[in-house]
Amino acid sequence: MKRNIAILGSTGSIGKQTLEIIKKNKKQFNVFLLSTNENIVEILKQVKVFRPKYIIITNKKKFEYLKKKEKKIKIFNNYDCFKKIFRKKIDYVMSSISGFEGLQPTIEIIKFTKLIAIANKESIICGWNLINYELKKNKTKFIPIDSEHFSIWSLCNNKFNQIDEIFITASGGPFLNTNKKILKSIKPKHAIKHPKWNMGKKISVDSATMVNKVFEIIEAKKIFNINIRKIKILSHPDSYVHAIVKFKNGLTKILIHDTDMKIPIFNSLFLNQTKSIFSHELNIKKLNNLNFKPISDKQFPSLKVIKLFSYNNNSLLETVLVSANDELVELFLNNKISFLGISEKLITILKLNEFKKLASKKPTNLAQIIQLNRYVRLKTRSLCVRSYDNV
Ligand SMILES: NC(=O)c1ccc[n+]([C@@H]2O[C@H](COP(=O)([O-])OP(=O)(O)OC[C@H]3O[C@@H](n4cnc5c(N)ncnc54)[C@H](OP(=O)(O)O)[C@@H]3O)[C@@H](O)[C@H]2O)c1
Repeated sequence: MKRNIAILGSTGSIGKQTLEIIKKNKKQFNVFLLSTNENIVEILKQVKVFRPKYIIITNKKKFEYLKKKEKKIKIFNNYDCFKKIFRKKIDYVMSSISGFEGLQPTIEIIKFTKLIAIANKESIICGWNLINYELKKNKTKFIPIDSEHFSIWSLCNNKFNQIDEIFITASGGPFLNTNKKILKSIKPKHAIKHPKWNMGKKISVDSATMVNKVFEIIEAKKIFNINIRKIKILSHPDSYVHAIVKFKNGLTKILIHDTDMKIPIFNSLFLNQTKSIFSHELNIKKLNNLNFKPISDKQFPSLKVIKLFSYNNNSLLETVLVSANDELVELFLNNKISFLGISEKLITILKLNEFKKLASKKPTNLAQIIQLNRYVRLKTRSLCVRSYDNV
């Protein structure tokens, strides 16, 4: 029987790669729902090929335009439609909207699916306790899709309490060996060009500033319920090894795969099935030159942020981190702040008294997180635009 699937953020890098795999295995899947913010050209192409039952376009103008033009397609403007469209649980959801906007739909779709694969790391960072509650309440399976977390998850076989230490690898992004003088003049077009991965703009900038690794450390701390001091970062420019897990029983396991997000996505789609993706030769040359090095917060000042999250609970400070970073990246992409300004301002904002105290406050509901996100984005913008004007 065909499996029903939905993709939140189907026009993005992860969404499109998920659909590429579905296309090659069309007989096994039925695409139930696809969503985009504003890319109606891409979603119309996807509609033609995959014939989803429903699509969501969150941008109001694009939604109204398409609703008038395409009378035959069932289109919604927001994620409040879940209750109307899901009569029973579907088989698989890929949560791949970028940034904080992924949080609400991710939490709300959990009850309508048997399995959710979450690529949207921001939702895990801000709302893990709410996500985990919904997962347990609705008996929904969860697979992390970020390559490092997918690797750790695969290595552990659900025995997370056996983990002693985790080493997450970092390619180092486009500026691993770039000197500070040059970093001062980095433009968005340089920052979005990742040397190893082909990703959306937002995560590419996060990789360049190394905020992405800060996110991944916090993400790992939450998913695997491990003290942040037990999670280390190693620079590894080839990105062949994605994670190393040292277990309490003396074993250490390493997971390698090519720099291709289709590998974790494929494995989440074909969980417990024997199916070949495509043949990969083991790259002995790369294995002989793994070249791991510790990574310094002198080169990447954003890594200093990790210390602020050394507590074990889930807190609202994580929402401050994600929201301020979302705003700073947007300001940088619009040439309103400098590349180095992203990390500098992120640290300043996290250290503001009004936010620092949120480290002891647990998120209790979605509305509270959304409200804080709006406040932090406004505050970040006002602080940056003022200081930018003074430059
Ligand atoms: N790409 C990777 O290799 C990779 C690896 C690990 C983890 N991740 C994580 O996966 C998530 C997606 O990354 P990506 O690289 O695929 O991003 P992307 O290429 O920028 O795509 C983002 C998707 O989300 C949609 N979207 C953006 N803003 C939205 C909003 N306000 N409301 C509704 N939909 C919105 C986009 O629609 P439009 O097309 O209309 O903009 C697009 O479909 C991120 O959280 C990222 O950190 C990505």
